[in-house]
Amino acid sequence: AKVAVLISGRGSNMTALVEAARAADCPYEVALVLSNKAEAEGLTLAAEAGIATLAIPSKPYGADREAHERAVDAALREAGIEVVALAGYMRILTPFLVEAWAGRMINIHPSLLPKYPGLDTHRRAIEAGDAEAGCTVHLVTVGVDEGPIVDQARVPIEAGDTPETLAARVLIAEHQLYPAALAKLVAG
Ligand code: GRF
Repeated sequence: AKVAVLISGRGSNMTALVEAARAADCPYEVALVLSNKAEAEGLTLAAEAGIATLAIPSKPYGADREAHERAVDAALREAGIEVVALAGYMRILTPFLVEAWAGRMINIHPSLLPKYPGLDTHRRAIEAGDAEAGCTVHLVTVGVDEGPIVDQARVPIEAGDTPETLAARVLIAEHQLYPAALAKLVAG
């Protein structure tokens, strides 16, 4: 399956997806890495890995989120993309893009959903006194971080953890979970 990875920043999950796709038995290929920010570090990493990249800056579209999404959607179709993986794509999607890719768009979120949708997940988990944290891959629906769960991974919260130390531990789990969950989704 031809996959596009949508990013806004450093792209470490995108890199994990690209690296896993090198395995001969991987059922997906990363055919495009698309960013809404031209300066995203992940675009450079993807280009260095030999992946086609595209920046479609959202800023010029201002508040017209759907117009930006129409440009993104056209680029995905032009590239023959079958499945979209959001990886640190910092845009809330409108129903237009969600419905266009329903059942074929996934996201990774750094919490054990349904706990802690939205931002600042690690601080919230620590402040709640949780014993564990983790990450979730889910299908994208109109409700932010609310779609059906594809898979989750858990890590312990340790004494003295800060949001940063916990984020680093969860990120390692994200890099293992995301390629496996994407492979599971495309393999049916
Ligand atoms: C990850 O923690 C991901 O779960 C969240 O945003 C972060 C993106 O990091 N949605 P990266 O760009 O993949 O390094």
